[in-house]
Amino acid sequence: MCGIIGYTGNKDAAPVLLQSLKKMEYRGYDSAGFGIIHDKSIQILKDAGRIDDIASRVSIRTKKGTTGIAHTRWATHGGVTQTNAHPHVSCDTKIAVVHNGIIENYQELSSKLKNEGHRFASETDTEVIAHLIEKYYRIEKSPLKALQSAVKQLKGTFATLALFDDKPELVLGARKDAPLVVGLGKGENFIASDIVSFISYTDKVAFLKDYEIASITPSKVQIFTFDGEPVPVVSTQVAWEASDISKKEFAHYTLKEISEQANTINAALDQDEVKIVEFCEAIRNAENVRITASGTSFHAGILMRYLLAKLAKIHAQVFISSEIDHEIDLIDENTLVIAISQSGETADVLEAVKKAAAKGAKIVSLVNTVGSSLTRESKVSLPLNCGPEIGVAATKSFTSQLAIIYDIAFRLAGLDDKREQLNDLGRYVEIVLNQGERIKEIAEKHKLAADFYFIGRGLHFPIALEGALKMKELSYTHAEGLAAGELKHGTLALVDAGTPVIAINPSDETYSETLSNISEMKARGARVIAVSDKDNELYDEIISIPSVDPAFFPIIEVIPLQILAYYAAVERALDPDYPRHLAKSVTVK
Ligand code: AGP
Repeated sequence: MCGIIGYTGNKDAAPVLLQSLKKMEYRGYDSAGFGIIHDKSIQILKDAGRIDDIASRVSIRTKKGTTGIAHTRWATHGGVTQTNAHPHVSCDTKIAVVHNGIIENYQELSSKLKNEGHRFASETDTEVIAHLIEKYYRIEKSPLKALQSAVKQLKGTFATLALFDDKPELVLGARKDAPLVVGLGKGENFIASDIVSFISYTDKVAFLKDYEIASITPSKVQIFTFDGEPVPVVSTQVAWEASDISKKEFAHYTLKEISEQANTINAALDQDEVKIVEFCEAIRNAENVRITASGTSFHAGILMRYLLAKLAKIHAQVFISSEIDHEIDLIDENTLVIAISQSGETADVLEAVKKAAAKGAKIVSLVNTVGSSLTRESKVSLPLNCGPEIGVAATKSFTSQLAIIYDIAFRLAGLDDKREQLNDLGRYVEIVLNQGERIKEIAEKHKLAADFYFIGRGLHFPIALEGALKMKELSYTHAEGLAAGELKHGTLALVDAGTPVIAINPSDETYSETLSNISEMKARGARVIAVSDKDNELYDEIISIPSVDPAFFPIIEVIPLQILAYYAAVERALDPDYPRHLAKSVTVK
């Protein structure tokens, strides 16, 4: 996944593009570049590396020109090199493009264009867009028509922006299966992958739908279909502010977002009553309920399955979105698919949902990003309300997903008193957040560990999976999450003297059996770090959590695991916000 931004207005574009690009660095950060129109030519400034380093290397702040585009890359086609960084230009360098997505037919298109005399510089799929526009611009003499003709040739996913050196105030953007949103300013306009990029300039946005093209100048915003039909520009005011995307006093977005969870859990519970009732009725009336998601959101899906079964006696299956082709035969018009996603743009989830809908399934979803593709594919979509989550590792969005899932399960089970307790969870979260220093010490003690094992039973099993994922993606240390009862069926062979095992073992119905598993590991030399409200002599260390109603332990106990992974990364001098090889929203399959 990549981040793209276009600006046209009354300011020099360079500092605006730089600031906006930085806000999207979580979308990909192996190379970056800028294209700025000045004196009837497009200055292309790009390189491999992080945005700040490139910005100083190319002295971006000194560049003049009030119209430009910029790109931060997560490489898909072509290595991480200056040549492959975006923007890419036409043969005559009079057109420049940036792109997020994958052009599946780029080889066929590039060989055709080469046969027509076009010369390619990079190994990327994106460059075909620049040469296609160049080809059609020569014929159509209109930037809009040239882009319309070009994008109709493309197969795959794309959000792309184009500059024309003879149109010094114009930025064009086109989208298909990748996000693109217009920011409506005063005397200036933006177009980008994500609202966070320009929220400090304007909170008025217009979302593009698939197969739409936006044309922006400082004073005008127009939207058209790929066939040139005008589309109304519908302005929405988003409830995000610039402060939502500043790190404030925190060293990293990841720590800030972990620390926000006392408030974000409450915000998640603030749902439109009509919509959440419709969501619950859809579950109650469905013959076949299937939950789908990827990564952290998939772990929330597992917990949803447990809670629907345990509390509401509703049978739901959960499957990993990328496995849709092995589930699709069980999906039909009697199926409700519940999709869970922070970004609402995960390619695997979108593909699963589209394939299920094609079989007649009804789609509902839990999504954080307003206006994202998944919200548009859903009959009902409940917002997580946790604000922008910048850190690549999902933290606050996960507990927001859990809060809504609890509310849904309690509603379906008729447990209104339990629902009341949800509003009280914030103070327990604060108690856990105050354990930060203690958890940091544990992370320091185990900073040389080569493996971590996270175990839990029942509702704690998906939390064990989530703890392991956090540890892997933040500290690059091997970690495995497993059902506590499964250890003796093989993994126990890996436990050696000093192997750190994080045992999620609060004082609920799973306590005694998990204690037996802990003693099995102790007997093999493991070092057990318990997450529990009840100490025990078997524990080498304990991260204490408050004694809450057992149903709520999962939403509380995951927070120390997030903090542990965060400090494990810091102890290893890694950047928790931008883990290597990863991206915040995986918009490629
Ligand atoms: C979680 O920390 C990871 N960033 C990743 O597993 C993520 O949860 C997954 O890619 C799904 O993203 P989504 O919730 O935006 O669909």
